[in-house]
Amino acid sequence: MDIAIIGAGRVGSTLGRGLAAAGHTIHYARREPGPVPDRLAHERATAGSTEEVVGRSEVVLLATPWAAAEAAVSGVDFAGRALLDATNPIGPGMVLTHGHTDSGAEQVQRWAPTAKVVKVFNTTGMENMANPRYPTGASMMLACGDDADALATAVRLATDLGFDAHPFGALASARLLEPFAMVWIRLAMIHGHGRGFAFGMLRR
Ligand SMILES: NC(=O)c1ccc[n+]([C@@H]2O[C@H](COP(=O)([O-])OP(=O)(O)OC[C@H]3O[C@@H](n4cnc5c(N)ncnc54)[C@H](OP(=O)(O)O)[C@@H]3O)[C@@H](O)[C@H]2O)c1
Repeated sequence: MDIAIIGAGRVGSTLGRGLAAAGHTIHYARREPGPVPDRLAHERATAGSTEEVVGRSEVVLLATPWAAAEAAVSGVDFAGRALLDATNPIGPGMVLTHGHTDSGAEQVQRWAPTAKVVKVFNTTGMENMANPRYPTGASMMLACGDDADALATAVRLATDLGFDAHPFGALASARLLEPFAMVWIRLAMIHGHGRGFAFGMLRR
C-alpha cells in the first residue's frame, strides 16, 4: 500500500520505517522541496509536497504536533482517502484541549472534510510503534472511525506493525482514546514507569 505521512518526526518516521519493513511504500510530506533527507532514508521511501505525496497514496498518516495539525491538513484535497490521525490534542500544561463532547480527531475531520479520519497510533509511545512485541504478548492498538473501510485499513496497518489491533467504534470514540493516551503519558513521565511498557489486552 502507498502511504503518505504528514509530519515526519519521531512518530511519522518510526511508523514509516515499520510500515516500509512490512512491505508498504512511504511518501513523506516535506515542507521544503528536495529528495528524501538522510534521516528518513529507508527502503521504499519518497518525498514531496503534501499535495504530491497525498496524490501518490491510498492512505495518509497525520503525525504533526497538535499545534501544526490545522495548517497541515486544511485545504488539502484528500479525495476520500483514509486519514489516520496519530496526534494528541495536547496544549499548554500538558492537558487535552478537547474532551468529553469533542475530540481532536473530530476536529481534524472538520479541518479535512474530504478525508475519512481514523484515530489510531495515539495511545502508545513511539518505542512501542518501533517494536510492539513484548515477551507476554503484543501491545494493544485501538482505532476508531466512521468509515468502515478506512477503519479496517487502520487496523490492518497496525497489525502489519505487530500490534494487537482492534476496531473501537465511531470517530467520536476518540473522546476516550485521547484521554487514554494521557494515561500512558502520565505513567511514563510522571509515575516513573518510563517508556518501555505498553497496554495489552489479557484474555481467558
Ligand atoms: N512521541 C510519541 O511517542 C507520540 C506517541 C503518540 C502520539 N504522538 C503524537 O504524534 C504527534 C507527533 O509527535 P512527534 O513526537 O513525532 O513530534 P515531532 O518529533 O516533533 O515531529 C513532528 C513533525 O511534524 C512536522 N510538522 C510540523 N508542522 C508541520 C506542518 N505544518 N506540516 C507538515 N509537517 C509539519 C515537523 O516537521 P519538521 O521536521 O519540518 O520540523 C516534524 O517532522 C503529536 O501530535 C503527538 O502528540 C506522539
